[in-house]
Amino acid sequence: MQDHEEATKIKTIRNIELGGHLLQTWYYSPFPREFHVDTIFSCDFCLDFFLEKNQKDLHVLQCILKHPPGDEIYRDEKLSVFEVDGYLQRKYCENLCLISKLFLDHKTLRYDCSPFRFYVICEPRPTCFQIAGYFSKEKGQVEQNLSCILVLPSYQRKGYGKFLIEFSYELSLIEKRTGTPERPLSDLGFRSYITWWTQKIVSILLESEDQTISIQNIADLTSIDQNDILYVLENFKILRKNDPNSKPFLFTQKEYLEEILNHIGKPSKKVIRENIHWVPHM
Ligand code: ACO
Ligand code: ZN
Repeated sequence: MQDHEEATKIKTIRNIELGGHLLQTWYYSPFPREFHVDTIFSCDFCLDFFLEKNQKDLHVLQCILKHPPGDEIYRDEKLSVFEVDGYLQRKYCENLCLISKLFLDHKTLRYDCSPFRFYVICEPRPTCFQIAGYFSKEKGQVEQNLSCILVLPSYQRKGYGKFLIEFSYELSLIEKRTGTPERPLSDLGFRSYITWWTQKIVSILLESEDQTISIQNIADLTSIDQNDILYVLENFKILRKNDPNSKPFLFTQKEYLEEILNHIGKPSKKVIRENIHWVPHM
């Protein structure tokens, strides 16, 4: 019932200025009533929002944040990732969820952010870090390694979505468990996952010299849940049977696998494993 109510609500904010871009919103988000206006203006660092551009500009001059309020747990030449605790940084995370709901229609907004950690991806600038997207992960959740993912529209189709997905699996590898995203997935979320899973699994099959590689081996190497691996292998007809009663096998002919990779999309921007500085939370 609540899902239906949320889905049928009409958009109340048409644009949001964030990160130097005026973004057209996609969906309804439960901002306070006084913010049901054409355009709102958000601070790039604390994500507070304002009704007037000059109010925001004045705020930015005084805002003490120059990056998301958490630990920087990853840095490479082009990107950083900050881990922000939803309990310790309630206001920031509530703002982040309200903003992200403007671009997500299939999720009901969870008002309490404290059960989640947020992994915020930023582009470094000379004196600050510019937010480009994030994913959230529920504390203590053992099966799902990602709850919600968003790349801001002005940063989409640059490989950041796949980078965040890869990052979520790198954290699972450190935790020594497999993981899967929370369902349902949006259309864009599903496409991004399929692309990343397929690139990862097919690359492993291509690199593997061992013809007896199993689904369990792939899960151990990637932290991808076995059901998701099976889905990809069946979908791309890599898992085959010679006849209905025979044992299934993996069809790993090099040309066949390369053909799949050529059609699935651009290679992802890789997470450099050694650059992650993170230990699992107890
Ligand atoms: N049209 C067609 N294919 C697309 C599109 C699109 N608009 N967007 C992504 N894809 C597919 C492509 O295969 C793409 O790979 P390619 O560029 O190599 O062809 C792949 O998905 C991922 O592309 P990225 O550039 O890595 O993804 P992006 O940075 O654009 O982020 C994301 C993807 C996070 C899903 C983004 O579209 C987004 O934030 N959407 C709005 C919020 C949303 O739907 N989130 C997912 C909800 S599900 C969940 O939270 C568990
Ligand atoms: Zn601010």
